Amino acid sequence: MSTSEQAAKALISGKLDAFPTETVYGLGGDASIETAVGRIFEVKNRPKDHPLIVHIANVSDVDFWASEFPDYAKKLAEKFWPGPMTLILPRSENAKDFITGAQESVGLRIPKHPVAQELLQAFSNLGGKGVAAASANRFGQLSPTDAAAVKVELGESLGSEDIILDGGLSDVGIESTIIDCTGTNPAVLRAGFVSPQQIQQVTGLEVVESTSGVRVSGALKRHYSPRTPLQLGGEAKAGEGLIALASYPTPTGVVRLASPSTSEEFAHLLYQSLRKADELGLSKVLVIPPQGDHLADAILDRLTKAASK
Ligand code: TXA
Ligand code: MG
Repeated sequence: MSTSEQAAKALISGKLDAFPTETVYGLGGDASIETAVGRIFEVKNRPKDHPLIVHIANVSDVDFWASEFPDYAKKLAEKFWPGPMTLILPRSENAKDFITGAQESVGLRIPKHPVAQELLQAFSNLGGKGVAAASANRFGQLSPTDAAAVKVELGESLGSEDIILDGGLSDVGIESTIIDCTGTNPAVLRAGFVSPQQIQQVTGLEVVESTSGVRVSGALKRHYSPRTPLQLGGEAKAGEGLIALASYPTPTGVVRLASPSTSEEFAHLLYQSLRKADELGLSKVLVIPPQGDHLADAILDRLTKAASK
């Protein structure tokens, strides 16, 4: 198995790494090498105008990629990095069009997963400035939350010198909260583990609707989709799959795919359970989403897109 040092060297020499983060697994390349970043789009079959998040080792790396770091964004970084949060900031000249999709902003994140931390630190020690990475799935499909799922998604398209690092099942299980920090107030572009209430509390600012017109691929109507048809709510019939809180009973003959006890556990198990439905070749999977907290909202956002035709 590859070490983080080997994986960091692979990045420096222009190869790609799939690596665990606490949200989902990423497929990354050296953000300073255009051909490496280009391959991320090819491997994922992702449209070129959808920007990539640059993953960095330290807060001090922000200044390399961003031209401005507003005070409220600094407060967010201090509170939630390393962690499941991406900040959108005005880009510096180092954040080239091939990363940002020619937008004037750049997305930055410091992940918390120990393997991601080791990789980014080793990469930084070799002089690397940032790792451009997207979720390690084909465009429009479910993000992988373990190394086996990365192999299913991308195995055929990765080269022999690309590396897949195994860090177990991702803790959070859904993608990072994306916060647009290019305006006077923070705006949430993608819901996640870090909630609008927390953002408001930490910054002392009202969280507003984004007006910057930035493109977020997760904002497409259909996204995050398993191959198995997904139905939100309703009643599962014999032979169909079911994902619901543990308090929800399993009707006779229904394939129970997950019984989480909390919204946190629901998010943690969701993508893995949907993949299980694909593996089992079920005709349908029913999901009864949790309710009543911010993570439930983030889960519902993913499920609504996944269920969209
Ligand atoms: O949790 C995560 O964010 C994972 C892990 C691997 O870090 N990454 C991830 O990447 O979900 P991706 O590429 O699948 O989704 C990132 C989203 C995309 O919808 C992209 O459009 C948006 O972030 N994004 C990146 N840079 C942006 C920018 N400058 N402005 C607006 N949106 C941006
Ligand atoms: Mg993605």
